Amino acid sequence: MTPTPETPPRPPTLTERLAAIRQASNATQGTGGSSVQREFEFRAADFERVRKLIYAHAGISLSPTKQDMVYSRLARRLRAKNMKNFAQYLDHLEASHDAGEWELFVNSLTTNLTSFFREPHHFPLLAEHLKKVALTRKQINIWCCAASTGEEPYSIAMTVADAFPRGSGQQVSILCSDLDTDVLASAEKGVYPFERVSRIPGGELQRHFSRGTGAQENMWIARPELRRMMSFKRINLLEPNWPVRGPLDVIFCRNVMIYFDKPTQYKILARFAPLLQKEGLLFAGHSENFLHAVDLFHSLGKTVYALAHKTPG
Ligand SMILES: C[S@@+](CC[C@H](N)C(=O)[O-])C[C@H]1O[C@@H](n2cnc3c(N)ncnc32)[C@H](O)[C@@H]1O
Repeated sequence: MTPTPETPPRPPTLTERLAAIRQASNATQGTGGSSVQREFEFRAADFERVRKLIYAHAGISLSPTKQDMVYSRLARRLRAKNMKNFAQYLDHLEASHDAGEWELFVNSLTTNLTSFFREPHHFPLLAEHLKKVALTRKQINIWCCAASTGEEPYSIAMTVADAFPRGSGQQVSILCSDLDTDVLASAEKGVYPFERVSRIPGGELQRHFSRGTGAQENMWIARPELRRMMSFKRINLLEPNWPVRGPLDVIFCRNVMIYFDKPTQYKILARFAPLLQKEGLLFAGHSENFLHAVDLFHSLGKTVYALAHKTPG
């Protein structure tokens, strides 16, 4: 479902406008930021159309400086669909209700940067919180709502596994979701090359991942103990219905709100609040803050938030 945008992307800054004008002039001359001839015509108006479509569909506010990025990511789609230029591709997208192409369009424009134990200070805080919750509840529910290729939810799962050794009887469910179906499929596999897992401290890597064999010789595979607590679903945070059952003890929503404008962030936060347990925690990314939503969440420091009705400590 495509929600109707109620707020347009934020107006560009002067620097962004100058960059956009420079890129638009390059584009009309058939060149990119460099002097290389472009394969497909890509006018400033096409870029504006892409910006509006991805904002309406996924809430992503693309800065006006992202023309080259948009060109290179979508040029592949034009090639695959045998399109002559961007205008033709976008006409097709808008007119055809081609769900498969919409999915590929959105997947092409997401940014999926992530890593194991990114922002590592969050994980001891998570363990501490979960141990406190476990004193009164056998079932713990966690939602990781921008899971990307899975490094974040597997870091959560490793933290859980270390906090509750086998036989503790503690039950933990981790719902892992993302808008992008490609990254989610890769997260669900739980298989990573050595370069990706190298940030996992030695002991934890050996405990929670096994070394692949044969065709997977250089890969590390998440062990079943981790995977058993995890489930995977495509969820667009902008869509009106989330298939998420509360109450949740923890929501990880890190490094995705930065792509949304403040009104969109606020609407999402207002929907997180009733899903959380009274004592629940919301983990945000390092450059995100929710000071514009103090009526909903208050900061506990270190980009961790609690529901606003609760006083800290
Ligand atoms: C930069 S990654 C962050 C991954 C991870 N949370 C971390 O901090 O390492 C942002 C993720 O948000 C996802 N995303 C973007 N818009 C979304 C939306 N409307 N709903 C759900 N996920 C979205 C992207 O597909 C991408 O995988």
